[in-house]
Amino acid sequence: MTNHVVILGSTNVDQFLTVERYAKPGETLHIEEAQQPYGGGKGANQAIATARMNSHTTFITKIGKDGIANFMLDDFNKANIDTSYVFESEDTKTGQAFITVDSQGQNMIYVYGGANMTIDESDVMTAQDAIINADFIVAQLEVPIPAITKAFEIARQHGVTTILNPAPAKDLPQSLLKLIDIIIPNETEAEVLSGLAVTDEQSMIDNANYFLSLGIKTVLITLGEQGTYFATQHDHQLIKAYKVKAIDTTAAGDTFIGAFVSKLTKEMDNLAEAIDFGNKASALTVQKSGAQSSIPLASDISNN
Ligand code: RIB
Repeated sequence: MTNHVVILGSTNVDQFLTVERYAKPGETLHIEEAQQPYGGGKGANQAIATARMNSHTTFITKIGKDGIANFMLDDFNKANIDTSYVFESEDTKTGQAFITVDSQGQNMIYVYGGANMTIDESDVMTAQDAIINADFIVAQLEVPIPAITKAFEIARQHGVTTILNPAPAKDLPQSLLKLIDIIIPNETEAEVLSGLAVTDEQSMIDNANYFLSLGIKTVLITLGEQGTYFATQHDHQLIKAYKVKAIDTTAAGDTFIGAFVSKLTKEMDNLAEAIDFGNKASALTVQKSGAQSSIPLASDISNN
């Protein structure tokens, strides 16, 4: 089985700071390591993950004419991503992210949207053939909501399953909510959207019920080292994470999504199996530094 997947999302150049702990306001701290820029952006990471899991992957994104993302274009090509819809903004810089990773492998991310935030409905229309011919379309919230809504409208009209990773979390208009088939927030994003903190099993159920009550048929809440909780109208289950020592959790969620969507059947009758595959893939990602640099190949997963 090879799924055809369209990813609509951001491309960022990631600048990492590795620190023992986060600085307090007004405090100066030494950083452990000065690193070269890495390839990142939730959209680009998910496109790389999906392609490395052997899905046919088309990526809709926008970069600046500043050349700073050129190394990533090479990586997209190496991963066999269809880059026909990597647009260039005339006057806006490529997106960038500033990421601090502490000694526990946790991160804090600040994002400059740049060209990502200029993706519009006309770009989506240009890519509509790819959307129509896909099995799944995946978007995150580092690109404008009107572009995502347009893409999901096209998908819905043609029976293409829509997946939203609401990251970074923000209020979602009804016009988009009604077009989402699968939503995949992490626990922080779930809380921002539902207003309910995820603290225990009951709060996971309450969160999932919140999204189901909006008409979204499938809810996956990624819970880091605990695993992934999923709920539909008929079923719910926590699929446990694999226990590993995390060096850097950046792109763990993106890897999960790429692996999950690659394993999922079009009928979506293997949710638990696809989630377990996503959990396996993200367990490998957290053991390496960086975003795209840490995303495994399908063969790495079967070898572990
Ligand atoms: O999900 C990780 C990504 O978030 C990073 O690569 C960074 O670019 C931000 O978009």
